[in-house]
Amino acid sequence: MVLQDHEFKRIRDLVYRELGIHLAEQKQALVFGRLSNLVNRRGLQSFEAYCEMVENDKTGKALSELANAISTNHTFFNREHSHFSFFENRALPEMTHRLRTGQSRDLRVWCAASSTGQEPYTLAMLMRRFFSKEITPWDAGLLATDISEKALESARLGIYDTKDVASLPEPLRKEYFKELPNQKVAVSPQLKRDVTFRRFNLINAVYPFKKPFHIVFCRNVLIYFDAPTKEKVFANMADNMVTGGYLFLGHTESMGRNNPAFEFVEPAVYRKV
Ligand SMILES: C[S@@+](CC[C@H](N)C(=O)[O-])C[C@H]1O[C@@H](n2cnc3c(N)ncnc32)[C@H](O)[C@@H]1O
Repeated sequence: MVLQDHEFKRIRDLVYRELGIHLAEQKQALVFGRLSNLVNRRGLQSFEAYCEMVENDKTGKALSELANAISTNHTFFNREHSHFSFFENRALPEMTHRLRTGQSRDLRVWCAASSTGQEPYTLAMLMRRFFSKEITPWDAGLLATDISEKALESARLGIYDTKDVASLPEPLRKEYFKELPNQKVAVSPQLKRDVTFRRFNLINAVYPFKKPFHIVFCRNVLIYFDAPTKEKVFANMADNMVTGGYLFLGHTESMGRNNPAFEFVEPAVYRKV
């Protein structure tokens, strides 16, 4: 099987339209390498037929599979650690203080490209540690979304290599992970219950959330998007966050300082104005 120029163009258009991911001209060989297995596995004769199948699949599963092949799910516990300290020492105290003043205990946190779960589970552990000092229970929700169903399945399973959790402080490791045979660990059932995993495409025109979020982590996914797509994502984020809420991006994904909806707080941390 070969990837003809017109087929590559069709895949590029499809990937941009449906995933917001911009594939440069020189990515033809990479696309061939990553997609030919998928095309074969589905018993299709050409990349053209593959595009048609993805476009006609209303379940979104084929699109999720495509996203998985094109982008990387690379992530790890405690990644870009300064954000987690900021989350625990500034964002959580500030947001909960504000909510308390307004007689509410409904804190909403969203991890918007959660991949295989290491990032939302890190947030969930820090939330548990933070709320353990409270007497009255909080109704704190942690939503974790990703476009890749495969990544979400692995996140829901919550099984990791022992070496993957080595970067976490020992008390957290001891409390929230159970050792399994073969150098594996399993996330505790209580921590799993704290996180709701759902499939969600960040380039959807409309974000379907009923209530706005206080804290959003959207890290290391915007690198795949071009400038207009990023702007739309920022606008949608702003529409779905409370004023004063915190947005965390990856350290290489600055939004610049001119977005009227956000103010710069510190590298890759922004505040909805
Ligand atoms: C490199 S991982 C980042 C994971 C984590 N946020 C971190 O910083 O470690 C990027 C994730 O973005 C997801 N992704 C790519 N395009 C997406 C889209 N359009 N909507 C939602 N998630 C997307 C991928 O499936 C992948 O799991």
